Amino acid sequence: MISWKKPGLQWSRTLLYYYKNPAPLNIRGPISQIQERAEVGLFADTDKPVQPSVGFFICKVHWRGETMEPKEVLDFFCRRRSVRRYLKKAIPDTTLDLLMKSAMAAPSGNNAQPWAFIIVRDVKLKEELSRVHAWVYMANEAPAAIVMLGDKGSQWWQEDCAAATQNLLLAAANLGLGAVWCGIKEDQAKAVRKILGIPPEMGVLCIVPIGYPAESLSPNTKFRKDKVHWDRFTKP
Ligand SMILES: Cc1cc2nc3c(=O)[nH]c(=O)nc-3n(C[C@H](O)[C@H](O)[C@H](O)COP(=O)(O)O)c2cc1C
Repeated sequence: MISWKKPGLQWSRTLLYYYKNPAPLNIRGPISQIQERAEVGLFADTDKPVQPSVGFFICKVHWRGETMEPKEVLDFFCRRRSVRRYLKKAIPDTTLDLLMKSAMAAPSGNNAQPWAFIIVRDVKLKEELSRVHAWVYMANEAPAAIVMLGDKGSQWWQEDCAAATQNLLLAAANLGLGAVWCGIKEDQAKAVRKILGIPPEMGVLCIVPIGYPAESLSPNTKFRKDKVHWDRFTKP
């Protein structure tokens, strides 16, 4: 008889789970596969001790990280502001890797994942990027500028890259970095393509200058009640 009940954790979903004799070893095997497949770390629990025989039992699973408090959720999003001034301090590669993983956790139409990213740290290239238009000047001062690209052959590339950009910005803010989304229009994209050798089939959504902040902006929700409609659109 085994029981994996972990104290003090809330159930969030239920799974019908098949197991085979002998239960104690075999149950653990497949459940650890579920963990791997879920990638974010699920683990299983049972309400009742499991009998070692062939059959089904109900597993209750929950996210290992547990849920955030409502205030933490809001803080996570509101901490992101457009930061345009940076310290002269390099961003570690491990942090840049984490930003890339965060960006690529975004949803995408048909799960096409049409994005590609160029992390620009070369001083001359950043200087050239900073002149693509008047409001991307911060690329010059930032220790890195991340260029967000999407395969134009994919019908949702702009939406997908926008989702990835927002993920990146949220991750950056919550890692103590400052960044700003600098939009790139198609005519400006030509210049970016030329500077970085990007092929024509790749669209350029934006450039994100990023670094440790040299300015402090207050968290801000911008919440407005009149922007929210319940059930039907209501005119003001
Ligand atoms: C599509 C898009 C394009 C933007 N382009 C620029 C830009 O070129 N330069 C810039 O400094 N900020 C740019 N921003 C940032 C906005 O100015 C900023 O998000 C807005 O003023 C709200 O401030 P906050 O981000 O601090 O909440 C852009 C934002 C978005 C979503």
